[in-house]
Amino acid sequence: MTRKVCVIEGDEASPEVVRPTVELLDGMKLDIDFLRPLTGQSAIDASGNGFPPEARAAVDEADCTLFGSTSGLTGGLAYLRWGKKTFANYRPTRYVTGMRSPLRNPDGIDFVIVRENLEGLYPGREGDIADLAPLKLRDGLTGDLMDSSTAGKYAVRIITEENTGNVCRAACELALKRKALGGPGRVTVAAKYNMLVQSDGLFRRIAEETVAEYPELAFQQLIVDNFAQQMIANPHQFDVIVMPNEHGDVLADGAAALVGGLGLAPSACIGRDYAYFEPVHGTAPDIAGMNIINPTAMILSAKWMLDYLGFEDAASRLEKAVYAVYAEGEYLTSDQGGSSSTTEFCAAVRAGL
Ligand code: NAD
Ligand code: IPM
Ligand code: MN
Repeated sequence: MTRKVCVIEGDEASPEVVRPTVELLDGMKLDIDFLRPLTGQSAIDASGNGFPPEARAAVDEADCTLFGSTSGLTGGLAYLRWGKKTFANYRPTRYVTGMRSPLRNPDGIDFVIVRENLEGLYPGREGDIADLAPLKLRDGLTGDLMDSSTAGKYAVRIITEENTGNVCRAACELALKRKALGGPGRVTVAAKYNMLVQSDGLFRRIAEETVAEYPELAFQQLIVDNFAQQMIANPHQFDVIVMPNEHGDVLADGAAALVGGLGLAPSACIGRDYAYFEPVHGTAPDIAGMNIINPTAMILSAKWMLDYLGFEDAASRLEKAVYAVYAEGEYLTSDQGGSSSTTEFCAAVRAGL
């Protein structure tokens, strides 16, 4: 059956990794139709709207979307996350030989952060502190009535039972799959449940209860600041880590740094009925137009997409071809200590396919 993939090229340096990634997929002669609606700056120039109705229709028509980072929420990201309810954001960190890790012993680092993708602080429900006065809120630790006469802003942080359950289940299913391939079968929850007793407390409790439904899996809980420390000092211990939105966002960038930086970090955002695939990194505006951006994160995001679409063999071939370029070390981009362009790196991957 022909699969349809909507491609959103993104802004600044993003098209420089999205285009060659689509070319690689095209060259693999898979039964995929690519829908390429106008989005971002070119759509703004044409119609004043970075995510016009035709782009939204293409997202809806496709089985999933391959997404290059955008500089704002105007390029379709909001629709792909909240419109399509892609609640689980998988952010794998895996070292392979040749990556420019700053660690002495990066061999064997292989974990996945499963970041809650829809809730926490990021829906951006903010306002003036004064508006909170009627709620008569009390501080969690002191019990003091909140002083709402101070000028300033608030942000609401929501953790729901249903969505947390969905994300924790996604983390467990992933840990189970990884266990079948030799993984340790461990789910860690990292959150600030000592201070945010109710919200992150709920997240922690649901994680524990969900893992308990999987007798094959071990459960670990860490307060998120300690997790950050252990992720750097002893990253080999981790398998699957589930986290609320903003913790997972920040720590996934940190995780990427362990193996060699943002150029290496793919991601997959998967909900019940839809998925989109994007690198962890942003639009890399400082290197836009230079043909030096590392396409690895984008290509490996496409690898996750092929798995999602059921092209498992192709996914594995693509991943092997990328890793071979690292093992060989001839065609690496400058973030990895090489001097090859994005185009040369992609040509080496294509040659290895
Ligand atoms: P960034 O990830 O774009 O860049 C951070 C640093 O990492 C830069 O020095 C950049 O050159 C480098 N870098 C990133 N990806 C790289 C790659 N593949 N190869 C080599 N170097 C790479 O983060 P930022 O500068 O904080 O954000 C830039 C813009 O991207 C902002 O507008 C931000 O909102 C947006 N952003 C979008 C998404 C998304 O669409 N999902 C994600 C993150 C950031
Ligand atoms: C990411 C980015 C986004 C996020 C922004 C651009 C909305 O940082 O995808 O990691 O915070 O989720
Ligand atoms: Mn981020």
